[in-house]
This record gives sequence, structure tokens and C-alpha cells, in this order.
Amino acid sequence: MSPSPPRPAALDRGPIYLDHNATTPVDPRVIEAMLPVLGDGFGNPSSDHAYGGPAKAALAQARARVAALIDAAPEEIVFAGSGSEADATAIRGVVAAARRTADARPHVITQATEHPAVLAACAYAERHHGADVTVLPVDTMGLVAPSSLAAALRPETVLVSIMHANNETGTIQPVAELSRLTHEAGALFHTDAAQSVGKVPVSVRDLGVDLLTLVGHKMYAPKGIAALYVRDGVTLEPLIGGGSQERGRRAGTENVPHAVALGAAAELAQADLEAGSVARLTTLRDRLQTELEEHLPGRVHLNGHPEHRLPQTLNVSIDGVIGHDVLQTCAGVAASTGSACHSGDRTPSPVLTAMGVAAERGLAALRLTLGRWTTEDDIVTAARALASVADHP
Ligand SMILES: Cc1ncc(COP(=O)(O)O)c(C=O)c1O
Repeated sequence: MSPSPPRPAALDRGPIYLDHNATTPVDPRVIEAMLPVLGDGFGNPSSDHAYGGPAKAALAQARARVAALIDAAPEEIVFAGSGSEADATAIRGVVAAARRTADARPHVITQATEHPAVLAACAYAERHHGADVTVLPVDTMGLVAPSSLAAALRPETVLVSIMHANNETGTIQPVAELSRLTHEAGALFHTDAAQSVGKVPVSVRDLGVDLLTLVGHKMYAPKGIAALYVRDGVTLEPLIGGGSQERGRRAGTENVPHAVALGAAAELAQADLEAGSVARLTTLRDRLQTELEEHLPGRVHLNGHPEHRLPQTLNVSIDGVIGHDVLQTCAGVAASTGSACHSGDRTPSPVLTAMGVAAERGLAALRLTLGRWTTEDDIVTAARALASVADHP
């Protein structure tokens, strides 16, 4: 891999990209790493002949790299096709396995600001595996209170699934404390860390989690690859049966090029963290907020936790505007809002609503998320462009 990355050319052709929580550009070094296994290394990693060997070795190296980023063992990594699949494997897999061995109705606890992938997997477990699901509330900054988890845990609780960092606000949950309470009650703990892995240091041992989801396209690898950490000793019913790939936890010939890409992305993320990416992005993110506040005095309100938050996520509501309209008008910035359009009516983001944010302020929200190539110049220009539209809505 080359030592200093060229900037993805697309970033220079389009508006300033402030939507890294939706997806990240693929790092050119990641593309470089995956090309050999798309070509000469095409073999099936399960084949015992000369073509299988290099694919098997590449897959093993990728697994070790992903494991190293989160402080896991390589055998604890299960490659999956998306974050949604990894979440479903964790939740449905644990509930289905519990259903086989226990008589009682399995109880699952989650919380209100989870990604739809987690909420849908819980709803599936309710419909098809007879699970009983409790959804915990959050406070105005998006945090789950450990006391509310403690009160919800029961002898029949088999799984708690609470995300590490929220995709819209960046709020980081007290996962180590929540997983400790969960284990005291004898249940397993899953965290969806799609948005935090690579952005902040993540150790499955320090967090004390049994299952963790991470996603390639949030950390400069391509879309269509993710991984589920499954602690040694945790039993899962696989979503897809068939071959014995991934130690029987996910059938299907592995997507070796994308797994290799995820491995390369994991190595680069580790290097970024060691080089001070958290401090660099925190400074830029806070500069963006300050610039907006200076352009629009008294009109900018932060959504999410001021401190326990991803370093590159800024979610703000600007008084007097509809966030969606600002972004539609502001051609120089690509970002998102979290609001949705249903039959012509805009509804605020369910995440902000769950935090008790009033509808008007929810509709005024902008989610501005920075990344590896965001510069100070980008921040100053984007703030000026957004403020100018917000001043003349
Ligand atoms: C927190 C979180 N979980 C899960 C997902 C789903 O990942 P994928 O799009 O790979 O299914 C996302 C993607 O937006 C996410 O932000």
C-alpha cells in the first residue's frame, strides 16, 4: 500500500462532502489492496488446491486485521454482507438459539434510537421466535440510563442490544456499564458499532460486549461488507444455512475481495487513530459549529451529547428553516437531515423525536458528518454556504 493516500477524485468534482455517516468514500489504498484478489487470487478459499491457497490466506489476513482493530481474536470475526445482516444475525441468531434450549419466552431489550436494522430484527424475533421486546427510552441527549436497563432486566432476558454511537447525533452510549449490568442478569450484550469503529478506539474486551456489528462502508471500505464479532463461547443460530463457511455461523462462499478491503480499511483506521484522527476531527467539527453560530447568532442548537459524541458528527437545528430545504438549495454541500417524506409531508427524524426534540426543531436539523479528507477550508466554506441559505430561506 502506498504511504500517503491520494484524495478520492470524486471529492474534488462534487460539493463538499459532509455525509460520512451515510457512507464514506472508498480509500484509494483499500481499492489497491482488494484488486489482486479480484483478479489472480480468484480461488475459492475452501478449495484445497493451488488456487484456493492464496484466497484462504488473504481471507485469514483480513480476518486478523479486523479482529486487531477491535481487540478480538480472528476466530471471533464473522464476515457478513451488510450491517443490517450482522445486526439480524446477532439478534435473531441469539433469540433462535435460546428458543431451542429454554421453555420461557425469550426477552430482548433494545432502545428507541437504534438503527432500523436493529429495531426490525427485534420485531422479527417478536413475530417469528415468540420474543418479548422492551424498548428503553433515552434522555434529551440520546443516552440510555443504566438504571432504566437495570429495571427492565428479567430472568428471561436473553439479549440486550444497545448501539455504541448513534448514526444521527453521534451520541455514545455507556456500553461498558450497560454490558456489565446485562451480564449480572445473565444475558448477552450486542452493540451496533457501525458508526464508532474506526472513528474512536473500540475494544470488545473493554466494552465487555458479546456481539458487535461493524460496517465497511462507514470506514472507507466498499458497501456490501460488514463483520459481526461473536465472542468465543456464544452460540448463534445462523440466518442462512448451507456450507460450513465462517465456522457454520454464515453459509455462503466468502466475498474475499470485500473482506480483504475491510481488512485493509481496518489497518488504515488503526493508523489514523494512532496519528490523532480523533483530535483532528473534533477540532474541525467544533470549528464548524462555531462558524455556524457566528454566522447565525442565537439560531443554532446542538442535538446530541456535547461530550459523549463521535468526533466527526455535528447535528444542529437552525431556527427558522427546514433542514431538507436548506440542503436542497445549498448546492455546495452534500449532507443529510434524518427527516423523512411521507406522502408529501415531512416528518422529523425518529431519533430526535425519541430524544424529546420538538417537531419544529427536529425538522430544522442538519446532520453534518466529517471524514478523512475534510479540510479546514471545507469547513469554513460549508458553514458560509449553509448560513447564507439559512439567512434567506
Ligand atoms: C448504526 C447503523 N447500523 C446499521 C447500519 C446498516 O448498515 P448497512 O447499510 O451496511 O446494512 C447503519 C447504516 O446506516 C448504521 O448507521
